[in-house]
Amino acid sequence: MTDFDVNMAPARNLDSRWVRRYRAFFIVGSVILSIQVFLAYRFFPIDAEGDESAQEHRDLSGKGLNLEVVNEDLNGGVSSRRFKENYFVVDDEDSPSNSNPVNGLYIRNKVPPDKSDSMVRSNGGAIVKVPKFNSKDGGSPGLNRTSLRLEELDFVPACDIVAKEAISAIHRAKTQLCKQKLANITCLIQQRQLYPHHLPNSCPSPGFTAGKSLGCYRDEKKFRLLSGYYANLKTTNSPKHCINMCLQSGFPYAGVQYSTECFCGNEEPPSASRRPDSSCNMKCPADPKEACGGYFTINVFETGIAKFTPQVPREVAESGEPPVKIAFLLTLNGRALRQVRRLIKVLFHRDHFFYIHVDARQDYLYRELLVLERSLPNVRLARHRYATIWGGASLLQMLLTSMNELLKLGWEWDFVINLSESDFPVKTNNQLVDFLTANKGQNFVKSHGREVQRFIQKQGLDKTFVECDAHMWRTGDRRLPWGIQMDGGSDWVALSRPFVGYVATAVQDVHIQKDPLVEGLNTVFKHTLLPAESFFHTALRNSYFCDTYIDNNLHVTNWKRRLGCKCQYKHVVDWCGCSPNDFKPEDWPRLQGTENRQLFFARKFEPVINQAIIDQVEEWLYGPYPSNVANLQSYWQSVYHCADLSPPPDDSLVTLAASLTRLSSKGLALRADGNSCFVHPGNVLEVTSYHNNDNYKGSLLLYEAVVNGGSKTVIIETWVQPQHYMTILKDTEPSRRLKTFLVSSEYDQKEQMSRNFLHNLGPFSEPILVYQLGVNPQPSTYNVTFLWVDPAGELVEVSEVHVEDGLVGNYVKPLLREPLLPGIWTVNMVYDAAVVAFTHFLVTPLQFVSGANVSQQQAGFLHSGPGQPYQIHDAADWNKLLDNKIDRSALQRKAVVNARRFGLDLKDWIDNLNMKFYKVLDTCVTSSSRHVLLECDKLHLKICENTAWSSLAPDSKSQIGMVNLTTGRLNRW
Ligand SMILES: *[C@@H]1O[C@H](CO)[C@@H](O)[C@H](O)[C@H]1NC(C)=O
Ligand SMILES: *[C@@H]1O[C@H](CO)[C@@H](O)[C@H](O)[C@H]1NC(C)=O
Ligand SMILES: *[C@@H]1O[C@H](CO)[C@@H](O)[C@H](O)[C@H]1NC(C)=O
Repeated sequence: MTDFDVNMAPARNLDSRWVRRYRAFFIVGSVILSIQVFLAYRFFPIDAEGDESAQEHRDLSGKGLNLEVVNEDLNGGVSSRRFKENYFVVDDEDSPSNSNPVNGLYIRNKVPPDKSDSMVRSNGGAIVKVPKFNSKDGGSPGLNRTSLRLEELDFVPACDIVAKEAISAIHRAKTQLCKQKLANITCLIQQRQLYPHHLPNSCPSPGFTAGKSLGCYRDEKKFRLLSGYYANLKTTNSPKHCINMCLQSGFPYAGVQYSTECFCGNEEPPSASRRPDSSCNMKCPADPKEACGGYFTINVFETGIAKFTPQVPREVAESGEPPVKIAFLLTLNGRALRQVRRLIKVLFHRDHFFYIHVDARQDYLYRELLVLERSLPNVRLARHRYATIWGGASLLQMLLTSMNELLKLGWEWDFVINLSESDFPVKTNNQLVDFLTANKGQNFVKSHGREVQRFIQKQGLDKTFVECDAHMWRTGDRRLPWGIQMDGGSDWVALSRPFVGYVATAVQDVHIQKDPLVEGLNTVFKHTLLPAESFFHTALRNSYFCDTYIDNNLHVTNWKRRLGCKCQYKHVVDWCGCSPNDFKPEDWPRLQGTENRQLFFARKFEPVINQAIIDQVEEWLYGPYPSNVANLQSYWQSVYHCADLSPPPDDSLVTLAASLTRLSSKGLALRADGNSCFVHPGNVLEVTSYHNNDNYKGSLLLYEAVVNGGSKTVIIETWVQPQHYMTILKDTEPSRRLKTFLVSSEYDQKEQMSRNFLHNLGPFSEPILVYQLGVNPQPSTYNVTFLWVDPAGELVEVSEVHVEDGLVGNYVKPLLREPLLPGIWTVNMVYDAAVVAFTHFLVTPLQFVSGANVSQQQAGFLHSGPGQPYQIHDAADWNKLLDNKIDRSALQRKAVVNARRFGLDLKDWIDNLNMKFYKVLDTCVTSSSRHVLLECDKLHLKICENTAWSSLAPDSKSQIGMVNLTTGRLNRW
């Protein structure tokens, strides 16, 4: 029996408490009466559905929820309310004691996207008008389908698939292979052939016996015998079920009460509460032959496990312990090569090892890091590479495969620490080695630190996920294997060699006797979202290694749930996930606060977002750089490299780059007076983003060229900057507040910026409007409308935005049809029935398709716009607001003519457009091409290697040189 409202909600008003107390008397009274009347009925309460006392009891306890969690809410809130909230608190990084829950930074939100209310196409305070036609991603997981449309499949499923989620996933999957995989796995699950029912637990727990009955006890409403967890299992309750659930949740004791209730706890009930077995006389819903407690009586059992206590790490090693050797397992993605080098440099010691897994799609990073393998003895790149996705099952396979390789390399490491390109140390190498030497053999993982059943739900561990087509498809509910405790938290870990041998050997090597626990977990976690956040924890807790568990992953993580939990991965997984934010200088106190704690790494750091904080951390650990070290405040990151096959280069970027090299060359020729020097541009080699003092300064194009028809190719780098057009027409509040008003793509909701620094857009880009607002002196809330006008002068989209007071910026994603009509577009901001501001953006025509020059036929298709007219509601009214001097028919005719352009004419069109939207700032020539300076000194070219903005300028913080023989480390400059 439960009446937690009275216990748990001291803030409730007094009246209702009196009513409750009165009710309690009424319950007791009516139970006594009932017992007297129905004395002959031995099991009376079980069929007493209509019985008033039982009804009362249910109303007080259940509030209509099947599952209720107690002792979970540390703030003393009522659980039934919290249950509906979307976010989940993870103490991923031991909160400093002064953290306050309002800006508590470690709250994660993991729920299915169809249950999240953040599904609107906007964030912050804005409401964007509901789209008028469906986007191409084809519908959400919560579809209305109940049977599989077999005619869409090129195979016949092995079973009749009935699960709604599986049907939805199969229909949404793009390839037939993926559909088949989804169907195969769903059938295996339906036939109960996939998941193990039960797994062995070999963590020793002397004195505890699974399922041992301790007898019937008297329970009290105010003081629960088993107070760790409570569930009302209306149809499934039985001692066995309850024991399994309590074991899964990590409790040594389980108890069944009042037929449907299951309690878990850590303390053995006192013998004084013992009652005769006849006092526990209610039937279990799942098995009427068994007793499930009674009215405030509880049958208590042992689950078979002892209460779990993590180990406390040692501070200092015993003298004479040799220092441990660490294998850093770097799992890398993206193109932040210079930051990766910097990370390796700061961690490097000749006694440590680096095993680097570069995502299978990242040609650039892989190619550039291969160089390190040749130059440093203890660096190795994984050859078997996985294409991993956020939360994907392949992440765990990648980690286990890499660890297995690490075991086989013959390197004598003691610990594996996994890190990504966005990690950075917050302690010196020596401090890390000292700490791990003192704790050799221990395993460092961070647990969620909350109630386990809640964790399972929020994490989606009770769902099957199948990874294919670069997506994690949710195909239905599942039951986790009984017999083991579930645990999880952070996927950043530091594991001992023996434990890595245990989890990674059994998985990979067929000839080795497989451990049944590891093998079973491997099956389960192949179909698990965010598998690395639970696999190692669960394996550790339930194996012989359980006494090496330290609840600390050595990391501090920059959680900012307001920004990081925007369900930003729903295109990749059928779930809402959160991500930590990048550190910025304002987060410094947080990093500094790790000084006296056993925290050695922080994440995330990303120099395109902020590099100053990385400099600050490095100088904090290893001392300041001398003032003569050049370009410390600069950062360069590759956007394009001509040798990349994967990811496939963006045609609009390649088109833009080629066009800008033409503009650059033309500019050079003009500069050399009398046209005495002709620069003929060739291949574009690289495009690099250039940042200085944490501002994007433009992009750099490295290209081949021939000067004055010479026979030798020279290599030139040119610095270009995108130009912005924002015009304020009327001084109104919304226009006055505009700081940024531009169109780009690749908006990052978490960092609130566009990652497309160059703002290049092509016919297949997804433009977004980014606006930033100055602080509003007078609080007010208003609506503005954005009118999108294409190069033919046609109004193609109307976005209405509600600007809340206090909003400082947001983005708007319009629904436009592809291919977008190339040319100059306009976005007008309408307020109070007038256009108050506008901006232009360019959709570049394509010179290349998949790297090859477009044909006339292709150009005709690509550059004619979407082909169907846009249908805008009230278009005539909106058009009245727009400049009526626009000659729409002339613009339309011009668009038709433009679509026929190809060859040189097309290039001219492209160059003329780009000239308006990009500015060439400077140009240099590589030192290997310095001979052109002699041939044509009138070009006045600088040498790139001596030019501060050039990607070839010295960058010693990221340059890896020789190992210092005395220190064993790499020199910093
Ligand atoms: C959903 O199903 C109901 C009843 O089967 C049907 O009336 C309705 O049109 C369906 N909705 C959609 C969007 O298919
Ligand atoms: C699905 O199962 C069938 C029959 O067992 C098998 O032939 C097929 O290769 C499987 N397909 C996938 C994608 O797993
Ligand atoms: C803004 O638009 C919303 C929704 O259309 C409307 O409810 C609200 O009253 C409008 N606010 C103002 C200040 O016009």
